[in-house]
Amino acid sequence: MSFRTQPPAPARPNRCQLFGPGSRPAIFEKMAASAADVINLDLEDSVAPDDKAQARKNIIAASHDVDWGNKYLSVRINGLDTPYWYRDVVELLEEGSERIDQIMIPKVGCAADIYAVDALVTAVEAAKGRKKRISLEVIIESAAGIAHVEEIAAASPRLQAMSLGAADFAASMGMATTGIGGTQENYYMLREGAKYWADPWHWAQTAIVAACRTHGILPVDGPFGDFSDDEGFRAQALRSATLGMVGKWAIHPKQVALANEVFTPSEAAVAEAREILAAMEKAKAEGAGATVYKGRLVDIASIRQAEVIVRQSEMIAG
Ligand code: COA
Ligand code: MG
Repeated sequence: MSFRTQPPAPARPNRCQLFGPGSRPAIFEKMAASAADVINLDLEDSVAPDDKAQARKNIIAASHDVDWGNKYLSVRINGLDTPYWYRDVVELLEEGSERIDQIMIPKVGCAADIYAVDALVTAVEAAKGRKKRISLEVIIESAAGIAHVEEIAAASPRLQAMSLGAADFAASMGMATTGIGGTQENYYMLREGAKYWADPWHWAQTAIVAACRTHGILPVDGPFGDFSDDEGFRAQALRSATLGMVGKWAIHPKQVALANEVFTPSEAAVAEAREILAAMEKAKAEGAGATVYKGRLVDIASIRQAEVIVRQSEMIAG
C-alpha cells in the first residue's frame, strides 16, 4: 500500500439512480415510491429548451411538496457550455428545499468545471444560510472527461459520485454506434470463423473506477438505453459490478429492480465471503498467512476482497 491510504467512498447505497425529466412532474411521486436508492430529477437532455424554466419550477416545488422518504435526491443541471446552468444552480438552491442532497454536473471535461460549480454553490449556500451542504456528482461522457478523469475525481471535497454516460461518450469519441451501452454488433474478435464479442466500454469504466477509488468517490455505470432488453441490462450491470462499480442508472422504472438485484451482494456471495474470513481467522490463529478454501488459495489479500462484499452488504442492510 502506498503511504497515502485509499479514502473510503461515501457509505450510502447507490445501487440504482432513477432518472426522470423535470418537465414531467406527474411521475415524481412514482419516482419517490420506487425502490431506487438515488433519484435524479433532470434539467438537462431529457428537457426541451422551451421547457427548462418550467422544469426548474417543477423540481423546486417537488423538493418542498413530495415526500422523498430516504432517497438521496439529486438534480441534474445543464452543462457548463449552455446558458442555463447558472440559473439551475441559483434557483434550485435559493428556492428549493433543504431536501435536495446533490447536484449532478453533466459533460464535465476538467477539474475547473467542478471548481466553477462548487464556487457558485458555496456562494448561494452561504447567502441563503442553507444548513445542508450540497454534494456533487459528475458524468464522464466526453473525450476530455475521460482524458482528465483523475483530476476531475480529485476536484472537490463535495464530489461523491461519478457516472459513465455511454451515449454522449460514444458521440464525443466518434465511436461508430448509436447504442446506449451494452454489446456493440461490430466490436468482436474473430477466431476460426466464429465471432467473440468484446466490451467497448471496458477501458472507460476501468479508468473511472480507478480514479474514483483513488479519491474516495462512488463509481457508477450510466444508462442502458434499450429498456426492453432485461438480459442485456443485466449483462452490462454484472460487468460493471465485476469491475468495481457500485450501481447503475435506470432510465425506465422497470430497470430499478434489475440494478438492485445485481448491485446487492447475493446471500451466497456474502456467505462465501464470511467463510473466507473465518478460514483466514483460523489460519492466523495457527500462524499462517495463507490457507486453502474449497481447493483454492486464500491469503491476506482475500480478506480485503471478502471485506468489500461483507461491508457492501452490511451498508445496504443498514
Ligand atoms: N420514473 C418513474 N416512473 C416512470 C418513469 C420514470 N422515469 N417513466 C415512466 N414511468 C411510469 C409511467 O408514468 C407509467 O406509469 P403508470 O403505469 O402509472 O401509467 C409506467 O411507469 C410505465 O411507463 P411507460 O409507458 O412504459 O413509459 P413512458 O412511455 O411513460 O416513458 C420514458 C418512457 C423512457 C420516456 C420515460 O421512462 C423517461 O422519461 N425516462 C427517463 C428519461 C431521462 O430522464 N433521461 C435522462 C437520463 S439518460
Ligand atoms: Mg449525456
